Amino acid sequence: MTGLFDAFHRRINYMRISVTDRCNLRCIYCTVQSMPHLSHDDILRYEEIHRVVQVAAGLGVRSIRLTGGEPLVRPDLSKLVELLSPVDSIEEISLTTNGTMLDKYAAELKAAGLKRVNISLDTLKPDRFQRITGSDKLKDVLSGIEAAKRAQLNPVKINMVVLRGINDDELLDLARLSLSDGWHVRFIEYMPFVRSAAEANRLVAIGEIMAVIQGTLGELRPCWPKSGNGPAKYYQLPNATGTIGFIGAITDCFCADCNRFRLTADGRLRPCLLEDDEVDIKEPLRRGASIEELQQLIQEAATLKREQHRLGEEPISGKRQMWQIGG
Ligand code: 5AD
Ligand code: SF4
Repeated sequence: MTGLFDAFHRRINYMRISVTDRCNLRCIYCTVQSMPHLSHDDILRYEEIHRVVQVAAGLGVRSIRLTGGEPLVRPDLSKLVELLSPVDSIEEISLTTNGTMLDKYAAELKAAGLKRVNISLDTLKPDRFQRITGSDKLKDVLSGIEAAKRAQLNPVKINMVVLRGINDDELLDLARLSLSDGWHVRFIEYMPFVRSAAEANRLVAIGEIMAVIQGTLGELRPCWPKSGNGPAKYYQLPNATGTIGFIGAITDCFCADCNRFRLTADGRLRPCLLEDDEVDIKEPLRRGASIEELQQLIQEAATLKREQHRLGEEPISGKRQMWQIGG
């Protein structure tokens, strides 16, 4: 077998790259607000990311997703896309963003070779957007979504983290956008990174979300997405042009199909989102390590992948929060 495999025979062909730990929002389910930031020298330069991607592509990585923090707060992100898109064997580069700056950058990202975007949108109400993200940028996100569509960054996927008592009364409004506007909406189970009973109560299980949608809007029929590498399961409402996806991080463990690893902004390979194992690749990069050595580090990261995360069983040790890993 050629390619990159982990110890459980899973093919690893997808790399998520966090380009910054900074963000211009402060979402309540993400603790970006409370942590110190990395200094300029701590974070990998675009040339260094390029080198890791070249080596990873040689091993079998085919898709790249750029994440943050908020990736677009890093200057000249399109330059990174331009560097990465010609790399041999890389078939797709995508972006996860909060959308606030997309209006400005969608067209140039597309021109640089970006294929598609996932945009976070947890509410359609301005006052609630303020409560969830600490900012009044809802209209920027909405114009960012339109800009992404105009730029053909298709399919544009909208991610909503569902929080009980905060935005769970908007499930139908979001789901309806798959009917009226052809949106591809994904509902994500809240992962409580801070462990407390109050946080656990915020979780709304995918099964419950589906029941609410089907109760009012009709049967959800399973469908195959036009594109995707991940854990979402996709459905369509009758006569919808858009799709509805569900990511059940807690109640529908997707580890068995995991195909990915992560590169953090400060140059650590991270085998699993929800485990603290890491392999440093920054120091070897900066001392001029050979391709073989870098290959070995990537292999090692794949080998360290756990069979399954332990979320829901025991407290997360939490060396890093979501915004430092890139979701
Ligand atoms: N639970 C679930 N999803 C989260 N994200 C960030 N924090 C959490 C969390 N605690 C996801 C959101 C956001 C993306 C960057 O990461 O979907 O849009
Ligand atoms: Fe920023 Fe994303 Fe965290 Fe919200 S979830 S604060 S947009 S990094």
